[in-house]
Amino acid sequence: MTVGIDKIAFFTSPYYIETADLAKARGVDPNKYLIGIGQKRQSVIPPTQDTVTLAANAAVKVLTQEDRDTIDMVILGTETGIDNSKAGAIYIQELLGITQAARAFEIKQACYGATAGVQMAVEHVTLHPHSKVLVIASDIARYGLKTAGEVTQGGGAVAMLISSDPEILILGGQSAFHSENIMDFWRPLYRREALVDGHYSTDVYIDFFNKTWQQYQQATGQSLSDFSAFVFHLPFTKMGLKALRSVVSTSEHADRLLHEFDFSTQYGEIVGNLYTGSLYLSLLSLLANSDQLHIGDRIGLFSYGSGAQGEFYSGQLATGFKRQLLKTSVEDVLTNRQQLTIPEYEQLYSTDISLHAGDVDFDTQKDESRFLLAGRHGGQLKYVDSSLKRG
Ligand code: COA
Repeated sequence: MTVGIDKIAFFTSPYYIETADLAKARGVDPNKYLIGIGQKRQSVIPPTQDTVTLAANAAVKVLTQEDRDTIDMVILGTETGIDNSKAGAIYIQELLGITQAARAFEIKQACYGATAGVQMAVEHVTLHPHSKVLVIASDIARYGLKTAGEVTQGGGAVAMLISSDPEILILGGQSAFHSENIMDFWRPLYRREALVDGHYSTDVYIDFFNKTWQQYQQATGQSLSDFSAFVFHLPFTKMGLKALRSVVSTSEHADRLLHEFDFSTQYGEIVGNLYTGSLYLSLLSLLANSDQLHIGDRIGLFSYGSGAQGEFYSGQLATGFKRQLLKTSVEDVLTNRQQLTIPEYEQLYSTDISLHAGDVDFDTQKDESRFLLAGRHGGQLKYVDSSLKRG
């Protein structure tokens, strides 16, 4: 029996901005954002979407009734909680009609949370082969308006169904991890926006990648030649590129691995940072866009959550992997987005529900996503499934 990712799906907001427009509005050379940082567009999240609706909108694309009846664990990886106590996974379970005979909870460790969820899910299914676990990475990356981090915002969700005999990626092998108490990126309880020392964070990320990659090689005896590609947590695409270059620079595998890396950034550079979902969007981007991957190929995954936790692990492509299906599924979401002007984006930025206490109703007519946040009454969030209304 093998265990791993059987299904994977992505969702983001219907709105985006061009980073070249943002650069002009901030008095910056657009090439700094486009080339220096490596981001072309970023998703802008309207008030009718939060981490719960983004997650449910991703997962609903792949779940069958049989999955809903079999899933016995729903794990939400997020650092954009919708409540200081209650897990978003409970709402997601209900919205998706997943059986109540399940555990539903949330994991937070900056951008690493979903990887902890994936590892827990793999161990659970290994012990209980008939189980299925839904792991969803969902976040809204928010820095301050007019700050250096603004160009690295974004948001969205990647949902993964972990099961035995998976169709897409076989997991469960050796993993290497490293954690250390550092202050590179954090969000104090009184803030909605992250505080970040971006240059320091990049240095730590590269250091953690090198440490975990070394550990992994020592434990497995594998080396660059055993890998078809590496995918990275990508707050911005240049960050992963720097990490990859740090280990391949003098290797005969450099050209091949850097070429594959480009496929893994194609979606991230037009969506922006998903925090804990970024690594899994990179994986999806590689799987959907590379034409060099074959069944059995090994892919390395580097997960990083500031604060900080790093983990390197790998998976092998399973026999059911179908590139075109994944590509169509992601591009359906990305081709129907609406471009916003910078003033429109700034206006949406100020409507975030967590900024104001009190009752609020949102206009759900403009957002055609299936699951929507309709508002909050008496401190209770109100989610709707618009397909029920539209019949
Ligand atoms: N044309 C092309 N490239 C340009 C340029 C231009 N006109 N102007 C600058 N650049 C390049 C710089 O050379 C630099 O490239 P390098 O890193 O390869 O040297 C890059 O653009 C960024 O410039 P820099 O001056 O370092 O930008 P910055 O001080 O505004 O900060 C970040 C950039 C990424 C550090 C900042 O956006 C940030 O902190 N983001 C958040 C990151 C994060 O979330 N980290 C934690 C999670 S892991």
